[in-house]
Amino acid sequence: MTEPVDAPARGLLADPDAFAHEVPHEAIAQMRAETPVAWQEMTGQSGFWAVLTHEDVVRVSRQPTLFSASTGGVVMEDLDEESLEMMRMMLLAMDPPRHIEYRRPLAEAFSRRVMAGLEPQIRSICRELMSAAAEKSSAAGEVEFVHEVAAGLPTEVIGRLMGLPEQDLERLHLLAERQTAGSDPEIVGDAGPDHSASVEMAMYAIEFAARRRGEAPREDLTSLILGSDFDGSPMTDVDFGSFFVQLVTAGNDTTRTMLSSGLWALLAHPEQLAELRSDPRLIPGAVEEILRWANPLHYFRRTATSDTELGGAAIRAGDKVVMHYTAANRDPATFSDPDRFDIHRDPNPHLSFGIGEHFCLGVHLARLEGRVFFEELLAAFGEIQQSGPAVRLRSNLNNGLRRLPVSLGDFRPPDRNMLNGPEQDH
Ligand code: HEM
Repeated sequence: MTEPVDAPARGLLADPDAFAHEVPHEAIAQMRAETPVAWQEMTGQSGFWAVLTHEDVVRVSRQPTLFSASTGGVVMEDLDEESLEMMRMMLLAMDPPRHIEYRRPLAEAFSRRVMAGLEPQIRSICRELMSAAAEKSSAAGEVEFVHEVAAGLPTEVIGRLMGLPEQDLERLHLLAERQTAGSDPEIVGDAGPDHSASVEMAMYAIEFAARRRGEAPREDLTSLILGSDFDGSPMTDVDFGSFFVQLVTAGNDTTRTMLSSGLWALLAHPEQLAELRSDPRLIPGAVEEILRWANPLHYFRRTATSDTELGGAAIRAGDKVVMHYTAANRDPATFSDPDRFDIHRDPNPHLSFGIGEHFCLGVHLARLEGRVFFEELLAAFGEIQQSGPAVRLRSNLNNGLRRLPVSLGDFRPPDRNMLNGPEQDH
């Protein structure tokens, strides 16, 4: 029997293989044009509604009671009850009013103003990363940019934000790298994810919290969390452990991907890279376009709590609803010439940080890390070239790279490059 023409599209967005070599943007665009809220099959479990337009993703995100993050969690795969319970302890998978109570004390700690104060530290971390990368590249002829350069920034930043002792930062970095490897289906195969790095990280954080309770409060996130009430009571050390893992998880892969996919995008558009070199004030706009064009996360899921209608689809209570950021970020109704990478795009209302109730708590930190990292990268290296094929993650959720080999040349150490620190006019 001949397969119907649209057969591959019926489970496309659930299939990690469909994203293994490239993002199927053309097929997604066709689906969005034909059925803006499209039913997707999944093998061995119920399928989901894929929400593909910008307008409808915003609509779902802004109705957290109708579209619950907590009921079925935020990933499209059904989870067993134990994993679901663990996920529900994360801010990302809480519903109001509990979500509001947990998020409130953290909002100030992650505000733009507080994050801006971290700029000198972030710049100095970036400079250390660039010096180390220059050494590796000159010794080996190339560096693997994802792990040897980009991955170093987010864990180091979170470590300092939480006030971890300097000598523990390397350990945190190694645990975070193991944790990422454990969520890469290509690496773990059918055995499923290895949670041991997360458990070890939580144990470390529990001991750290216990130690810090015995000391005078400091100016860091740990003191703020230990001194705040969440939903009427303080966090226990165990809660602190799981919150710590959550911050590392949320901020690590996503930021690493923004930096590595960002460089990849710029290398594919050398004229725009040259423009950034000649005018670094364009970097914040370039970071936004990187986030739109190469959004680090393809989607998050919700579960409908009542029957409703969305984009012409009759959704039933209990149905899975997937907000597809990759599709929304290239919706031609919102973005002109959406497939074009354009660092001058303005306005750029991409949804890579979500929107509404669960809008990314780390948004100001991520933007700051993106800007400072590219400022320092371009100032440090007069020549950057891809030296081998990039390898993508095989994942329907993480839209990132596993490998990006590059050679870095014409190194200019910080005191001799043009950017001399946070006093720049940005
Ligand atoms: C480029 C980097 C990042 C991207 C693309 C990103 C993306 C997202 C997205 C899509 C959401 C969910 C939005 C929703 O469900 O509506 C989210 C939530 C969240 N992000 Fe980020 N994120 C990034 C960096 C960070 C960083 C650096 C941190 C913290 C260190 C962080 C912490 C969080 C937290 C705690 C939440 C849950 C917020 C809530 O449920 O209220 N993220 N992020």
